[in-house]
Amino acid sequence: MSTPPRQKRLTPADIAALKGNRPVVSLTAYTTPMARLLDPHCDFLLVGDSLGMVLYGMDTTVGVTMEMMIAHGQAVMRGVSRACVIIDMPFGSYQESKEQAFRSAARIMKETGCDGVKLEGGAEMAETVAFLVDRGVPVLGHVGLMPQQVNTAGGYRSKGHSDKEAEKIRRDARAIDEAGAFAMVIEGTVEPLAREISAAVSATTIGIGASPACDGQILVSDDMLGLFNDFKPRFVKHYAELAEVISKAAADYAGEVRARTFPGPEHTFQPRPKS
Ligand code: KIV
Repeated sequence: MSTPPRQKRLTPADIAALKGNRPVVSLTAYTTPMARLLDPHCDFLLVGDSLGMVLYGMDTTVGVTMEMMIAHGQAVMRGVSRACVIIDMPFGSYQESKEQAFRSAARIMKETGCDGVKLEGGAEMAETVAFLVDRGVPVLGHVGLMPQQVNTAGGYRSKGHSDKEAEKIRRDARAIDEAGAFAMVIEGTVEPLAREISAAVSATTIGIGASPACDGQILVSDDMLGLFNDFKPRFVKHYAELAEVISKAAADYAGEVRARTFPGPEHTFQPRPKS
């Protein structure tokens, strides 16, 4: 029996090979229609656990479950034909042991068909990253500001300002790189450090609030589209103001329903003439 050809979507190896060639473009996606719209423009789509805050109104990502990640991962996979798809491992699904991490990653990959998983953590997760990579799971690391650690970090603030903090992030990035991550997100980290790490590691660095010095960039789609307006971090740029567009459309609809001008004759079924 011959092996069927692999789909033509970009792979984690392709993302790794882009380092030093051209910037990697990435956005988050959580649904099929959004994945369809973003797919032609992105090298990889991340089904981020930010969906807990963006879609479900949670205060942090800590409450996100495997079931949520798998359901949204399946939805995104139905919408892509080109981009690589990486799914976030939710808080509590990988930190306990490397075996737990493998079980969770294997479940995510089997049930969604995605190309790899992302996990947050530095030196303390290096053994887990190597364990996953050695067993066929491509891993996107995540260092610097780590949102799943919000409760021990005491909030969300940019990192790498003190020598001690910078040294920890440097060590974290090196450890994840040596463990075999194909790429790593660097979040909320001062530019000189992000630049130094990007030059030092062989993994492709993907910045979010970590300066243009990274090998690529990612944003939460709802942030860059102006859809999620609960707060706006300094590193977010709105490329559209969709919240305003939606509010105006809803107000126009409500006005027309109340005025009985919608539905109009063109939206209304009339009986067919009797023959
Ligand atoms: O959860 C997420 O969307 C992320 C990105 C912001 C990198 O981790």
